[in-house]
Amino acid sequence: MRTLKFTLVLLLIITSNLLSQDLPAGEAALGTKKYDQYEKPEACKSCHIDIYQQWTQAMMSQAYTHHWDEIEYFDLAVAHGKVDEKFKPVSDGCNGCHTPLAFMAGDVPPPRPSENSRANESVSCDVCHTINGLKGDTPFNFSYVSQPGRLKYGPKPGLTSPHHDTKESDFMKQAEFCGNCHNEKDPYGVWVKSTQLEWKEGPYSKEGVPCHQCHMPKAWGKNANMSKEDMVAQHLFHGAHDPGKLAGAVEIRMHPEEREVEYDGTVVIKVQLFNAKAGHKIPTGSVEDRIVWLHVTARDAEGKEYHLPVDKKGFDGEEYTIAADVLAYQDLGIPKGIPDFKGLQRDGVPIGDRIFRMPYLDPQGRMTIMQWNTAKLGVDYRIGPRETKIETFTWELPDDIAIGKVTFKAQLNYQKLVKPVAEFLGVPEDESEINIINTATTWVEIYE
Ligand code: HEC
Ligand code: HEC
Ligand code: HEC
Ligand code: HEC
Ligand code: HEC
Repeated sequence: MRTLKFTLVLLLIITSNLLSQDLPAGEAALGTKKYDQYEKPEACKSCHIDIYQQWTQAMMSQAYTHHWDEIEYFDLAVAHGKVDEKFKPVSDGCNGCHTPLAFMAGDVPPPRPSENSRANESVSCDVCHTINGLKGDTPFNFSYVSQPGRLKYGPKPGLTSPHHDTKESDFMKQAEFCGNCHNEKDPYGVWVKSTQLEWKEGPYSKEGVPCHQCHMPKAWGKNANMSKEDMVAQHLFHGAHDPGKLAGAVEIRMHPEEREVEYDGTVVIKVQLFNAKAGHKIPTGSVEDRIVWLHVTARDAEGKEYHLPVDKKGFDGEEYTIAADVLAYQDLGIPKGIPDFKGLQRDGVPIGDRIFRMPYLDPQGRMTIMQWNTAKLGVDYRIGPRETKIETFTWELPDDIAIGKVTFKAQLNYQKLVKPVAEFLGVPEDESEINIINTATTWVEIYE
C-alpha cells in the first residue's frame, strides 16, 4: 500500500514535471501570453499589505522603471540591436527577466516607463507566484515556466484564501527558482551573470542555506490580514542597493610585520579581507558594472597623509585588478553612434588601489560594461563566499617622515557602476555613489 502510494506520488511528480517541460520557457515564451492573464500587484495589496509594501521598496518592483535600467536598455541594448541584428533577440530578452509580463505578451520593446504601461509592474507578485517549474537542468535566461491563473504557488501547504487557490511549491523554496533570472548566458555562450552558480559551488549550498534565508528572511507575523500568525517570508530582496546589506559584508583587519621601524626603513602592512556575509562572490550579479576596491592610507605623527599602492602578486591578468590610468569601454561607441570612440577612464578610483572584480572583454579584447557583447571573461579576482584574501602593502618610508606613531587606515569601498561610465551615460549619481563596506586601522612606531 505504502509503495503504491509512493509510486502514485512519484508518477504525479514526473507527469507534472513533464507537463511543465512542455510549456514554453526562455526565448520560446516570447509572445505566448497576454497581460490580462496576470493580476496586478494592487490586487494582492488589500490582503497582503506588508508584503506588498516591502515589494514596492525592493528593486524587484523597479526592475524595468529604474533610471539606469531604462538608460542601459534603450540607449545601449535596443540601440545596439538596431545597428547589429545579432543583438535584437538579446535586447528582447532583457525583458524576460526585467519585465516578464511584457516579454510573455510579446510587447517588446515595451513602452517607456513614463508611459505607465503594465510593463512597469517589473517583477511582480503574479510573475513569481505563477511559476511552477523550470525548463532544462540549469536555470538561466528566464527559463521559468509560467502558468498564470487562479492558482498561486507558495511555500506552505493547505492554505485557503477567498481570492485564489493556493498550492505548496518546493521549487519556490529553492535557489534554482532565483537562478532563472540570476544566471545569464550571452550570445557568445559566456556566463555573464552567475549568482546561483557561485552559490552552488560555495559552502552555503552544502549547508542547505538558499538565497531566501538572506534575502527573504522569515519573521513571526501575518501572511495576509485575515490569516493566523506564523513565520512569514519577508519580501525584502535587499542587495547592492541597500547600504546596510553591503555594510560589513566583508570584514577587514590589518597588521604590520614589525611594530617598530627605523626612520629610513620599510613598513610592511598586511590586510585580511573575509567575505563573512554573502552566499556568493562579492561582487556578484551585474559584475560588469560593479567595483570593490581597497584604499590604504598612512598618517604620520605630524598629520601628513600618504597613499599606499598595493604590492603586485604576479598572477595573469593582474593589471585589471590594480587601478590604473588607462582607457576602456570603447564598444560604447557602437550603440552611441560615435565612430572610433576612444573610450573612457577604466576605473575612476585612486591609482594603485587593489580592485576586486572580474573584467568582461568584448570581441576585440577591450573591457566592456555591455554584458551581451562579452566574448570572454578576464581574471576572476572577487572574494568568494567565506573566502579570505590577503593584500600586502610595502612602503619605503619617505625622507621627511615624522618620528613617532604612524597610523594606517584601510577602507573597502563599493560602487554599483564605475564612475566614468555613469558620467558618460548621464546615469543619476546614486548609482555611482561610494558605499563603505568596512574599515580597519593599525599603527607602527617610527624611531631615529
Ligand atoms: C482577499 C484577500 C486576498 C487577496 C486579494 C490575495 N490573497 Fe493571497 N492569500 C490570502 C489568504 C487569506 C491566504 C492564506 C494565508 C494563511 O492562511 O496564512 C493567502 C495565501 C497566499 C499564498 C500562499 C502563501 C503560502 O504561505 O504558501 C500566496 C502565494 C498568495 N496568497 C499570493 C497572492 C497573490 C500573488 C495575490 C495577488 C495576485 C493574492 N495572494 C491576493 C488572501 C488574499
Ligand atoms: C523573474 C525574474 C527574477 C526572479 C525569479 C528573481 N529575481 Fe531577483 N531580480 C531580478 C531582476 C531583473 C533584478 C534587478 C532589478 C534592477 O536593479 O533592475 C533583481 C534584483 C534582485 C535583488 C536586488 C539586487 C540589488 O542590486 O540591489 C536581490 C537581492 C534579488 N533580486 C534576489 C532574488 C532572490 C533571492 C530570488 C529568489 C527567491 C530572486 N531574486 C528571484 C529578477 C528576478
Ligand atoms: C549567506 C547569506 C546570503 C546568501 C545565501 C545569498 N546572498 Fe545574496 N547577498 C548577500 C549579501 C550580504 C549581499 C550584499 C553584498 C553584495 O552585494 O555582494 C548580497 C547581494 C546580492 C545581490 C546584489 C549583488 C550585487 O553586487 O549587485 C544579489 C543580486 C543577490 N545577493 C542574489 C542572491 C541570490 C540569487 C542568492 C542565491 C543563489 C543569494 N543572493 C544568496 C547575502 C547572501
Ligand atoms: C521574485 C519573486 C517574488 C515576488 C516578486 C514576490 N514573491 Fe511572494 N514569495 C516568493 C518566494 C520565493 C516565497 C517563498 C519564500 C520562502 O518560503 O522562503 C514567497 C512567499 C510569499 C507568501 C507566503 C509567505 C509565507 O512565508 O508564508 C506570500 C503570501 C507572498 N509571497 C505574496 C506575495 C505578494 C503579494 C507579492 C507582491 C506584492 C509577492 N509575493 C512578490 C517570491 C516572490
Ligand atoms: C537572465 C535574466 C536577465 C537578463 C536576460 C537581463 N538581466 Fe539585467 N539584471 C538581472 C538581474 C538579476 C540583475 C540584478 C543583479 C545585481 O543586482 O547585481 C540585473 C541588473 C541589471 C542592471 C543593473 C541595475 C542596477 O541598478 O544596478 C541593468 C542596467 C540591467 N540589468 C540591464 C539589462 C539589459 C539592458 C539587459 C538586456 C541586454 C538585461 N539586463 C538582461 C537579470 C537579467
